[in-house]
Amino acid sequence: MEKKVFVTHELPGEVIHQLSGLCDVNVWLGPGLLPAEGLREELAGCEGVVCLLTDHMDHALIESLPDLRFVSSMSVGVDHVDVAALTARGIPLGHTPGVLVETTADTAFALLLAAARRVSEADRFVRQGEWRRENRWSPDFFTGKDVAGATLGLIGLGAIAQAVARRAQAFGMRVVAWNRTAREVPGVSNLPLEAVLAESDFLSVHLALTAETRGLLNAARIGSMKPGAVLVNTSRGGIVDEGALAAALSSGRLYAAGIDVFAEEPVPVDNPLLYLPNVVLTPHIGSATALTRARMADIAANNAIAALQGKPMPHCVNPEVYAR
Ligand code: GLV
Repeated sequence: MEKKVFVTHELPGEVIHQLSGLCDVNVWLGPGLLPAEGLREELAGCEGVVCLLTDHMDHALIESLPDLRFVSSMSVGVDHVDVAALTARGIPLGHTPGVLVETTADTAFALLLAAARRVSEADRFVRQGEWRRENRWSPDFFTGKDVAGATLGLIGLGAIAQAVARRAQAFGMRVVAWNRTAREVPGVSNLPLEAVLAESDFLSVHLALTAETRGLLNAARIGSMKPGAVLVNTSRGGIVDEGALAAALSSGRLYAAGIDVFAEEPVPVDNPLLYLPNVVLTPHIGSATALTRARMADIAANNAIAALQGKPMPHCVNPEVYAR
C-alpha cells in the first residue's frame, strides 16, 4: 500500500511536486486554513505531514497518530509542534532555517524604521484626507526618532539578529546584544540582558519561543527598558507581555513598537496593541517574499522526501532520533 502524506496547504516552489511520485499525497485546498479538528481527521493513517506554523501539532494530536513517521514544517520556528512528543516516538521534525534570514531581517528593520518615523500613522493621516482637511504642515509635523547614532539592542544573537545588526551598522547605529551564551559578532557588544534593556533606544527580539523564553519580556523587563525606546518583535508574540507593552506605549513610557507576531494569531480584535497609533502592525510576514517562501517550501519538501526515502532530513530539529 502506498504511504500517505498530508500537506496542510498548497505550497509554492518546485520540489513539492516530486512528492506525488513517492507517496499518496493529499493537500488541503481550503477555503482558508485547515481547522484543528480537520487536521486530526486528515492525518489519520498518514505516514507524514508537511505543515505550516499555523498547524498546531500538540501532544494529544501526535499521540492519536500511530502511523506518523515524520513531520516537516515550512517554518524555521517550531513552537507549534510538541518536539518532545515527536522525539519520544523517534519521529524526525524538519524545519527551514537559513533561507529566510535576510528577508526576516528586512522586515525587522522595516518595522524599526516605520515605528521610528511614524510611517503607518502618517499614511493613515494622508489616506484619510486629514492633511488636506487640516491644511497643516509645520516644523514639528510628524516628527519621529532618529536611528543614526542610536543604540540598537538585540535580544538573541542568532543568524537573523546578526543580519539585523549589519543593517543597523550601515544606518550608523551602535549595536549591543544579549544572548544566552555570548557570541562574537563584528561590531556587536555582548551585554547582560538588563544592560541591553536599559541602554537600547531600539530593541529587537530574535529568540525562538520555548519554555525558557515565553514571557521573557514581562512587565518588569518592559518597565526597565530605556524611557522612549522602540520595541520591534518579528520572532514570536509569546515572548512579550502584550498587555504590559500596550500599557507602556499608551502611557508614553515607550515611544513606539513594530509588531509582526502575536501571542494569539490571527490577532484577536480586542488586543490593545491594535488601538494604539504608535504601533506598526503586520500579520506575521517576516519571511514573506515570493522567493523566500518558495525556498522554504523547497526545503520542507526535501525534508519530507528524505524521510520518505528513509534518509535523515537535511534540516532536522531533533536529529537525535537518528542516533538510536
Ligand atoms: C516564521 O515565523 C517561521 O518560523 O518560519
